Amino acid sequence: MGNVSNVFSPFTIKDLSLKNRLVMVPMYVGYASADGTVSELMLDHYREMAASGVAMVVVENASVDPLGLGSPFTLRVNDDQYIPGLSKLAEVIHDQGAMAFLQINHAGRYAYGRERLAPSGVKTGDVIPKEMTNQDIARVIEAFAEGAKRVKEAGFDGVEIHGGTGYLIVQFLSPRTNNRSDEYGGGLENRMRFPLQVVAAVTDSVGKDYPVGYRFLADEWLPDGLHLNETTLYAKELEKMGVAYLSVMAGTYDSFFLPEYLEKERSEGYMVHFARAIKEAVSKSPVIAAGRIQSPGTAERILAQGEADLIGLARVLFADPLWPKKAKGEVAEPIIACEPTCSLCMSRVMKGRPLFCSQWSKDRRDAFLRRIGEKTEGE
Ligand SMILES: Cc1cc2nc3c(=O)[nH]c(=O)nc-3n(C[C@H](O)[C@H](O)[C@H](O)COP(=O)(O)O)c2cc1C
Repeated sequence: MGNVSNVFSPFTIKDLSLKNRLVMVPMYVGYASADGTVSELMLDHYREMAASGVAMVVVENASVDPLGLGSPFTLRVNDDQYIPGLSKLAEVIHDQGAMAFLQINHAGRYAYGRERLAPSGVKTGDVIPKEMTNQDIARVIEAFAEGAKRVKEAGFDGVEIHGGTGYLIVQFLSPRTNNRSDEYGGGLENRMRFPLQVVAAVTDSVGKDYPVGYRFLADEWLPDGLHLNETTLYAKELEKMGVAYLSVMAGTYDSFFLPEYLEKERSEGYMVHFARAIKEAVSKSPVIAAGRIQSPGTAERILAQGEADLIGLARVLFADPLWPKKAKGEVAEPIIACEPTCSLCMSRVMKGRPLFCSQWSKDRRDAFLRRIGEKTEGE
């Protein structure tokens, strides 16, 4: 194993001490129960992710509003009834020695139901979402604030606002999906208003000492979408508001399935240049880079060259939960790579079925399929 001294050096986010630079970035796995509560399957999954040796686990997106669910199996934080299950989730992660964050979200026009909210009535599939009134806007901002408070109450070390993947926050920021003519639409200053109000309301509700991270969309990867010329300015505004970190990603559900995106997405470190650009734009906010950071050597180089402060792993860790231990030399076996040409996890998301990985051993896949009551793969 080559030099990985940067990867295994400690770091701090606000007052939180991270044992190394590895973060599990959020990855929806479809394991929540149909009522949005935490299931045994989910507890087992996050226990394994936390036991991998990463310093911090950011649990996949949980919805702040019944209209904001990306799927029927999305976690929810829109009511106190979800707190006990979420507490167990925070506990299993802590028990394995990792910090626990939970991502909060509103899917907006990408919600799975037919009743959808969005900044503008831009058609999504065959649904035209309802253009949000000022009252809707105020209600959703409040829902983010309330959701964040529940995350804190459940015992998580921090909350992450989902400003990626083209969900509601991005829908306000993006000129493609925001055609409003009021104070929430038009120039960047107006398009940033809703996202910044969400951040302010969340920070107010949890208190300024509680870490509020941000999943940051650097580029929509669409010609008429958001690009670095605007997102770097937005990053500076988030920094002024004291976000705990910026976890950088690119692309939305409008770009994820385009051939150009799929081509780029196959290469190692395909979003690192965006993380670097955001890190250059801000002065001290920690930046997480993600995107097929497959080899420990790549992770080490990103840190050594100052392109990011932390390394985000999603599919990479799902494919091989022993990645950190293998990188450190504690397990002397080769890393099992996420297969660049495979799209099984995404296709399971689109089918609304619990995710598994084509790179797992046959025994593991069979055991998983039995557990979820599926007879054969691909069914
Ligand atoms: C199936 C799937 C689900 C995801 N779910 C989320 C999510 O809930 N929130 C989020 O911010 N990003 C989500 N992402 C994006 C990942 O966090 C990550 O940025 C991306 O997969 C690149 O990292 P990787 O190559 O290690 O997977 C998801 C990605 C995949 C493939």
